[in-house]
This record gives sequence, structure tokens and C-alpha cells, in this order.
Amino acid sequence: MIHFEGVSKVYEGQTALANATFSVERGEMLFITGPSGAGKSTLLKLIYHAVAPEEGSITINGQRTDSMRARHIPALRRNIGVVFQDFRLLSGRTIYENVALAMRIRDAAEAQVKAQVMETLKMVGLRHKADAYPDALSGGEQQRVVIARAIVADPIIVLADEPTGNLDPVTAAGIMRIFKDINSRGTTIVIATHNKDLYANTGRRVLRLDSGAIAGEDRG
Ligand SMILES: Nc1ncnc2c1ncn2[C@@H]1O[C@H](COP(=O)(O)OP(=O)(O)OP(=O)(O)O)[C@@H](O)[C@H]1O
Ligand SMILES: [Mg+2]
Repeated sequence: MIHFEGVSKVYEGQTALANATFSVERGEMLFITGPSGAGKSTLLKLIYHAVAPEEGSITINGQRTDSMRARHIPALRRNIGVVFQDFRLLSGRTIYENVALAMRIRDAAEAQVKAQVMETLKMVGLRHKADAYPDALSGGEQQRVVIARAIVADPIIVLADEPTGNLDPVTAAGIMRIFKDINSRGTTIVIATHNKDLYANTGRRVLRLDSGAIAGEDRG
């Protein structure tokens, strides 16, 4: 589903990812961990083609994406849902509208938009907040809306960067249950975090990064 072969990313002379080789199989839930600056976010951005690598090859769903032309990037991204810190909710739109936008950019019919948005809000436990605005929601609720937006169009891959960042352990556990639920429906998930609690005792693969290099792999 995702394959990196000898991938390197350099920012202004600073190596963020060095010669990374790994694969993620369809339907897996993989964790990426490592200290601050290790390259976790960079790895996710390479999958999403928010940045391009200097070296190596990246294959997503059977397609080479490392040297992809700009006009092909939207089609790649339609298959990928992202929970990134810099992808905030629009404060002037309701929860319903924030989630619906992710389908509207994919030209979905309005009846389908409504059905899928409501079903997804139900899945994250926020159906009753459809008409509220983001500012009226708690941090954990807002994060669940971000997840709803990432999954509403049924992507084949979901990428999450520190998805439980500022949340208390109980709320974080609720967020992880949602990811588990999405994964059990067959969606491939990659989660970057330095919070051990997220993967401890899950039995899932954990890839460790250190200073841009893959330093090891084990199971949570
Ligand atoms: N846009 C950029 N320009 C220059 N350097 C960057 C840029 N983005 C990341 N870097 C550098 O690349 C390295 C890896 O950064 P990255 O954001 O991938 O780390 P991270 O593991 O996600 O860290 P954190 O846990 O703090 O989020 C760091 O040294 C960082 O300073
Ligand atoms: Mg990061």
C-alpha cells in the first residue's frame, strides 16, 4: 500500500529523513515514533506529497509518487485523509459544513454528502453537534471533527500527526478507539506520535525514527 525505498528529504542542508526504506501493508495500523525533530511529520508529508524527496522512490497504492507532476497530486490526495495540526477547522462554518467540504471538493452529490456526513459524525459521537460552530466545541470534540473530515470521503489511507496532542488520557483513548474502528473497516492508518500510551499493548508495528533515520521497529 505504501512503500519507501531509500527515501531522503533535506531541508536547506538539514537532513530530515535519511535513506528510509519501509512498507505498510493494506489494512495495517502503523505507528511512527521518535524524539522531536526525528522526521515523523516529514515522513507523513512525503506520503501526502506535501513535500517531495531528494532521493529514493515512494509508491502509494501501486503508483510512483516521488516525482509526480503537480496536476496528478489532487488525485493522490483524494485517496488520503489527513489529521494534521496545520489543517484546522474553518471557524465561520458549522461542524456539518466543515465535514461536508471534504466531500464537496470531490464533487459528491448533495444527498450523498448529507448521508455520509451524518453517518461519520455519528461514528465520532458528534451527530448532535452538526449545527454548532468549532469555537463552541472542546478540544477533544474539535479533534473528532478533524477526524470525521479526514474519513468522510472513505479514503484508503489515513495519516495522523500527533492526533491526541493536547488531549487528556481519557479523551485520547476515545480518539484511538475511533482510529481502531476505522482501521477495522479496512482503512490503512499511519499515526506519528511520541506518546507511548497510544501504541502500548496494541500489538501493532511501531517504527522508530532517530535523527531522520529508521532506528528500529518493534510491536506495541
Ligand atoms: N519546512 C522546513 N524547513 C526547514 N527544516 C525543516 C522543515 N520542516 C522540518 N524541518 C527540520 O527537519 C527535521 C525533522 O522535522 P519533523 O518535523 O519531521 O520532526 P518530527 O519528528 O515531526 O518532530 P516533532 O515531534 O517535534 O513534531 C527537524 O530538524 C526540523 O527542524
Ligand atoms: Mg512532527
